[in-house]
Amino acid sequence: MTNIDIKKVRAQFPILNSTIHGKPLAYFDNAATTHKPDRVVNKVKEVYETLNSNIHRGVHYLSNQATLAYEEARTKVQSFINAAHSHEVIFTSGATGAINLLANSFGETYISEGDEIIISHMEHHSNIVPWQMMCKRRKAILKVIPINGNGELVIDEFKKLLSPKTKLVAVTYVSNALGTVNPIDEIIKNTHANNSLIMVDASQAVQHLKVDVQAMDTDFMVFSGHKIYGPTGTGVLYGKEKLLNEMEPWQGGGEMIKTVSFEETTYNELPFKFEAGTPNIAGAIGLGEAIDFVSELGVENIYEYEDELLRYATEQFIKIPGMRIIGTASKKASVISFLVNDIHPFDMGTMLDKMGLAVRTGHHCAQPIMDFFGIPGTLRASFAVYNTKEEIDRLVEGITKIAKMFG
Ligand code: ALA
Repeated sequence: MTNIDIKKVRAQFPILNSTIHGKPLAYFDNAATTHKPDRVVNKVKEVYETLNSNIHRGVHYLSNQATLAYEEARTKVQSFINAAHSHEVIFTSGATGAINLLANSFGETYISEGDEIIISHMEHHSNIVPWQMMCKRRKAILKVIPINGNGELVIDEFKKLLSPKTKLVAVTYVSNALGTVNPIDEIIKNTHANNSLIMVDASQAVQHLKVDVQAMDTDFMVFSGHKIYGPTGTGVLYGKEKLLNEMEPWQGGGEMIKTVSFEETTYNELPFKFEAGTPNIAGAIGLGEAIDFVSELGVENIYEYEDELLRYATEQFIKIPGMRIIGTASKKASVISFLVNDIHPFDMGTMLDKMGLAVRTGHHCAQPIMDFFGIPGTLRASFAVYNTKEEIDRLVEGITKIAKMFG
């Protein structure tokens, strides 16, 4: 039983009433992006209709109002992740933008030839490629924590990878492709015991689990706004004040400077040093509204309900003949990656779509995981707080029917 009134939640998402190919939509692609409640959509509209103006720049009324609303959104993020200071919250274009910022600034400031960065085999491409690029530039070495057949990190191997040269460990909290919830406290403890720093990719965690950056004692953390019911083009880099102060900025331009002359530029204070140019003002304010939506429901309540959906779906899925679930970790968030017999994920995904059932197919921006399992990709059903058991029943029925058609 859940504390959440799912009917009331669903009523806030008009898109859930859509029909697709004449069938009611059941949306299971939430790990790619969640839908947005109408309060988020209305907030963004309200910004453009009532306070559109540039921020931190004007003395006029609208500019001041826009600045206040933007900074209020930052404070909402601060309190949501329990950061010590609001200036430890940097708004970015998404988790990808945040990791690219970090890889560039961190690399420029702290990385020399021969230094080591550790990532894991289950990272999203956005937590692989920026580190590869940085390692190439700085002549550093990228090491990878292996995974086992259940799609879990092999922690003993991780401990062996740590060395005096390890400057940073950058790992995901929850795998977008498999749903694995990693033992993040243990990873952080071991990283710090090695005198190394840690970045947690919480893109697939903040919408399901309580993420408290001070309790975790993480040095950096990133997440995307659009996966937590917020607008696309929004995201956050959290960093400890001392580190952010030490780090070189990545992008140069307006807003990130104190003074500019042709001889020398001095940089602005946090968080502005890392927010060059006009940011996604309406998006950030919309993200603040999305965070209110999640906080009002309670992330613990959301987890409990989604876990009920995950358990229910898993029980139903394994009854389907030919079903193979990829990613069977002991702790998972609400993601099921699967294959049925040798039906190509693309074929099944396309046929499910004709039934109004939206799942993702492919490698889910995590090709190394697919290589590990020796498969080109999977189908993926990922659940959000607005999904229901009735929708899961339809999905199970659809998969079963298609499997039968393929014989
Ligand atoms: N990274 C997104 C996903 O997992 C797009 O599908």
